[in-house]
Amino acid sequence: MPITTASADKAQDLLASLARARARTDDLFRIVKPQFLYDRPIPERHRIVFYIGHLEAFDWNLVGMRALNLKSFNEGHDQLFAFGIDPVDGGLPTDQPADWPRMREVEEYRNQVRATLDAAVARVSFANSNEDLLRDAYVLNVAIEHRLMHAETLAYMFHQLPHDRKIPQAIAPISSPREIQPKMARVPAGAATLGLRRDRPDVFGWDNEFDLNTALVPGFLIETTKVTIGQFLKFLEAGGYEDSSLWSKENWDWIRQQEIHHPVFWAKRGGEWRYRAMFEEIALPLDWPVYVSHAEASAYAKWAGKALPTEAQWHRAAFGTPEGTERAYPWGEEPPAAQRGNFDFQRWDPSPVGAYAAGESAFGVADLVGNGWEWTSTRFEPFPGFKPFPFYPGYSANFFDGKHYVMKGGSARTAACMLRRSFRNWFQGHYQYMYAGFRCVEM
Ligand SMILES: [Fe+2]
Repeated sequence: MPITTASADKAQDLLASLARARARTDDLFRIVKPQFLYDRPIPERHRIVFYIGHLEAFDWNLVGMRALNLKSFNEGHDQLFAFGIDPVDGGLPTDQPADWPRMREVEEYRNQVRATLDAAVARVSFANSNEDLLRDAYVLNVAIEHRLMHAETLAYMFHQLPHDRKIPQAIAPISSPREIQPKMARVPAGAATLGLRRDRPDVFGWDNEFDLNTALVPGFLIETTKVTIGQFLKFLEAGGYEDSSLWSKENWDWIRQQEIHHPVFWAKRGGEWRYRAMFEEIALPLDWPVYVSHAEASAYAKWAGKALPTEAQWHRAAFGTPEGTERAYPWGEEPPAAQRGNFDFQRWDPSPVGAYAAGESAFGVADLVGNGWEWTSTRFEPFPGFKPFPFYPGYSANFFDGKHYVMKGGSARTAACMLRRSFRNWFQGHYQYMYAGFRCVEM
């Protein structure tokens, strides 16, 4: 089948994006000193070495074998790096560094996957393909976004590595720090458009972004900045972690059992709070957004006499306008750029809230995109018309269990492509390691 020029250009663009995404993850693994690449910084997760192989095995299994019918050259690695080593008793993983291939072998697998895939992709006609995965080079978008999502979740994981196991990176200065007073913005009643239309094959989205749907949202007030570390410190000092009336029974049992008394990014040294930033420990930066679990965010909101926004309220505040139209991004239609917010790998840590005036929404709400995901009170559920991807059926559907909540926005380590309006992130309410904070609403 002939390749149309438009489609060939698009495939070329996507191949260039894939190359940039690979460079991004290669650079990320280099911040870990090589002797610690078999560490497991988060007990529930795999060792770092798994992820080096996983990014390649995912591309190989999906693009190489499933979409392009290539033959495996290392079935053992295709399997091992697709799923990892399961814990024997269903508890925490117990595999040892010696259970994994040596780094030289992993690197050889990576190099062979990339060379074989790139040569095969260059020969393929993506235009007018009858195969869903190949049409419009769809499969390349899946590979790119999968890799970029890992670039973010790996940053959460490396954050938990002791500082002396990492190689510090340059930190960009903040362009325009401002003195911010917490205040509420009024968002009038109106419609919020969520999701994506299926008849736009040129727009990529994951299965949970479909279909397009509209919510009518009554008027509400929303905090113009994310809840800061300074604000959260007041909750902690007022005894928020010791007051069961602020927590659901399930959340209270969790913080008691796990002995959680403060956000996981904080540490107490000699009676003083310190902040565990990516490459060093610093005095608590009171004007940075606080990063906490959904359970902790909910307890704070209750203490403040407010609530977390629903996903639809968050959309109204971010993309709605006083005129009743809706925007692609909080600031308008222009694509994400550095002056609009702390995202797209600009920084390793948060910036002070409200530092990006050019990123504010039409209602004057700051930092909706970037500087930390924002928890909503909405449980992660399918939109009407949801259909799982046949080639990745569990991507979203495995998490429609009532325990996961929608997060919106993005963090300093979220790639620009995933700042699109319809993108939905989700985590279970007791996971603490993400770059996720919140803001509150009032009716
Ligand atoms: Fe993955």
